[in-house]
Parts: sequence; C-alpha cells; structure tokens
Amino acid sequence: MIAAVPMELTDAALAADVVDGLAHVEEGLRTAAKAQHPVLAEAAEHLMEAGGKRFRPTLVLLAGQFGDPRDPRIVPAAVAVELTHLATLYHDDVMDEADVRRGSASANSRWGNTVAILTGDYLFARASEILADLGAEAIRIQAETFARLVNGQIAETVGCQPGEDPLNHYLGVVTEKTASLIATAGRFGAMFSGAPASVIDRITPACAAIGVAFQLSDDILDVASESAQSGKTPGTDLREGVRSLPVLHALRSAGPADGRLVELLSMPELTDPVLHAEALTLLRGHAAMEMARADTRQWAQQARELILDLPDVPARAAFEAMCEFVVERTG
Ligand code: IPE
Ligand code: IPE
Ligand code: MG
Ligand code: MG
Repeated sequence: MIAAVPMELTDAALAADVVDGLAHVEEGLRTAAKAQHPVLAEAAEHLMEAGGKRFRPTLVLLAGQFGDPRDPRIVPAAVAVELTHLATLYHDDVMDEADVRRGSASANSRWGNTVAILTGDYLFARASEILADLGAEAIRIQAETFARLVNGQIAETVGCQPGEDPLNHYLGVVTEKTASLIATAGRFGAMFSGAPASVIDRITPACAAIGVAFQLSDDILDVASESAQSGKTPGTDLREGVRSLPVLHALRSAGPADGRLVELLSMPELTDPVLHAEALTLLRGHAAMEMARADTRQWAQQARELILDLPDVPARAAFEAMCEFVVERTG
C-alpha cells in the first residue's frame, strides 16, 4: 500500500495534476520492476508494493509545475528518481542490517544479502535505462548524484575522523547521502518542464535544504518513533553505532546526570537488547531530542526562504507545505 505524502493541496488543478502524475509514476515503477528471473521480479516488486511515501516523485511533479507540467519527460524523470531511491533502500538495509522496511520484511531479511544487493543493482540499471531516453544531461546529473550518495554512505560507514568536527561530519553525510537525490528531484522537475534557469537554480538548493531536514527528521524518528508509524525498527542507528544528530547533541551537551547515557553511547555498537533499550529510553528523554528538532526546523526555514523567491504559482505553496511536512512527519 502506498502512503503518499500527506499534503493538503488547496488548488484543485494542482491536486489533480499531482494525483494523475503519481498514478503514471506507479505504472512506470511496476514496468521497471519487471524482470526475467522470477526471484528478481519478486524481490524488485517487494518494496514497491510494501508502501513508501513517494516523496521524491512528488517533488519532481511539483517542481514540474514551474514550467509545462504536461511535458512527457517529467513522469519518467520521477520514476527514475524513485527507482534510484528504492535501490538505495535495498542496499542501505544490507549495510544497516535492517530487518524491516516499509512495514514489511526487508529484502535482505527475506532473501539474504546477495539477492538484496542484486535487486538494488537491477533497479539502478532500470533507472539508467529510463534516463538514457531523457538525454546525456539527465544521465550525467544522475551519475553525479549517485556518486555523492555513495560518498555520503561511505563517510557514514567510516565515521568521523580525528580532528574532524562530529557535527560537520554528520551534516556532510546527510547532505551527500540524502539531500543530493532530493535536490535532483527538484532539479529534474524544473528542468524537464522547461522552467527558466532562475527557477532551476533556486529549486535545487531549496530541495537540498528540504532533503537535509528530511534526513534529520528521519534520524529523530529512528529514536522516537515506533515501528507501527515508521515501518522500520526503532534504534537502528544506535544499534549499528551510527552517531546521528540526537546522539551527537547528547554527547555534546552531557551534564553530570548523563553519565550512564554517555557510557552507553560510547560503546561501538549496542547489539545487546537490554543495553540498547536502556540507551533508547535515556535518549528519548534527553534534551538532545529537542535540540535536533530545532535544527530540523532551521533547515526547513532555510528551504522556505529559498522557496519564497520562486514565482508565485500554486506549487510554491505546496513546496512550503513540504517544509512543514519534513518537520512534522511521524513516518
Ligand atoms: C528513507 O526515505 C531513507 C531516507 C533517506 C531517510 P523515505 O522516508 O522517503 O522512505 P519511503 O520511500 O517513504 O519508504
Ligand atoms: C538512508 O539513511 C540513506 C540512504 C538510503 C542513502 P538511513 O539508513 O538513516 O535511512 P533509514 O532510516 O534506514 O530509512
Ligand atoms: Mg538505514
Ligand atoms: Mg543507513
């Protein structure tokens, strides 16, 4: 089941365009997931069917409103962006040893790491095929985006190095692994609708800022949210020893009462379920959570300021609503 981005689109024509566009995106996704080998076909369809917000294709469609929203390149671009995202989820769940995704078994827990990795590769390949029809510029942007995403994932895996500021390292990771693709979503929509360069140049950094806020809230939800809401296992970052924003704030602001939390957070991994649960409870009750929320609001505000420079079409208000959504979201 698809849980689309909960968005109030007050403009009826815009709402109809987005609903129609997303239906075509779904068709494109199903076609792309087809594969000769039955296991690949089943595994490729698995997460698509399981759900997902379709946040990135929605951004492509909304950005397409700044030019000609009927341009036939917009839907394929949105499909390619969602396929790229989906592929990264297959690989990310292998890296994070995650068992649950979109409220279903992750591909790695259901078929094992090899099938999950190959399925991610397949979806990347299918995205490239679609982009080939959109021209060399589209492929170049996709390749650059993918390279940045990999760069972010490796920086997260290797971790903060001596002499590096942990918060700067974290922001670098988030910008590369998540904001890069969300920025490309906005860029593709504007570009393929034939919007003026001034719009492309504004919407790209605006979506990058939305993307940072989106990942910050994902990292807050990893601590605060239950599986029923997020469709993922809470505390995955803690378990894997990934120091996300709430942990960084907790370590920076730790006072005399935080000795036990600091001790737990200083362990390389928290695989012991009892220690993991203890750390999660302490972190949930720590002021660090509010600090992380304040950072998220700041990034959303930065995005909003860029958005307000865009032409005043109904999609601009929808982009503002997206800034609200990334802060308020619970899943
Ligand atoms: C999850 O993305 C991975 C991140 C970059 C945070 P989404 O929250 O967009 O996942 P789906 O597509 O809705 O499942
Ligand atoms: C996901 O980061 C980023 C990419 C998939 C590139 P996370 O590992 O924090 O995302 P979730 O929480 O598993 O969705
Ligand atoms: Mg993950
Ligand atoms: Mg990860």
